Amino acid sequence: MPLRLRYMRLADIQEVVAIDRLSFQPSWRHESYRFELNESRSSHMVVLERRTAPSASTHAGWLNKLRGRLNGTAAESSCGDILGYGGIWSIADEAHISTIATHPTQRGNGYGEILLAGMIGKALRLGAGYIVLEVRVSNQVAQSLYEKYGFSRFERRRRYYASDGEDAWDMRLTLDEAARRRYQRLYGRLQARHDLADAYSCKAHPRP
Ligand SMILES: CC(C)(COP(=O)(O)OP(=O)(O)OC[C@H]1O[C@@H](n2cnc3c(N)ncnc32)[C@H](O)[C@@H]1OP(=O)(O)O)[C@@H](O)C(=O)NCCC(=O)NCCS
Repeated sequence: MPLRLRYMRLADIQEVVAIDRLSFQPSWRHESYRFELNESRSSHMVVLERRTAPSASTHAGWLNKLRGRLNGTAAESSCGDILGYGGIWSIADEAHISTIATHPTQRGNGYGEILLAGMIGKALRLGAGYIVLEVRVSNQVAQSLYEKYGFSRFERRRRYYASDGEDAWDMRLTLDEAARRRYQRLYGRLQARHDLADAYSCKAHPRP
């Protein structure tokens, strides 16, 4: 099935919150996502969807067609399952990865990597000098993903997570020529492996 990276929309929030609840403790609330999409000037939220092309005769297809007509995005309209999501805050020279998760039943298929690569591509296009994120010291899976793209441990933040007092690694990636080449090589591999369209990293933010 074709995959597409695109900016998160208000209509996605319910599905995104469901994945968030299965992935994080505590999770973000609906209002937090609404703020990121509607209010924040620095936020670039992304989803990865698996596109399906419903027949117009099915209920979902009919509803989707109608939605596309109503909001004037008939060409964009599609049905899709959200496989994962992420977000970056772009502030001056810094791109901060605020969140990233894939649905638990979809992990291990390369989708988290597509989301991370999409956000690195976005940070490069925004002209960021480096990317920073925090990750639980126990979260080996995420750390391994970040290391694959050249992130390294910058400093350990003691008791960073208020819910249980676990430490975080502050991991960083300087967006120099080597990081750009690594990103291009790995992203090329992802595109060869998946039927992937990217309507996020090189698109301007569709701000309301
Ligand atoms: C972290 C997360 C986004 C990774 O997504 P995913 O879709 O499972 O990952 P992918 O299939 O794209 O794998 C990409 C890389 O992640 C790492 N990885 C994935 N599964 C792994 C595992 N079981 N063990 C170790 N590393 C693993 C590897 O580096 C892998 O690259 P490789 O395929 O070349 O080995 C996902 O596990 C998740 O949503 N976790 C819960 C939320 C979370 O912890 N987010 C990070 C907050 S900082």
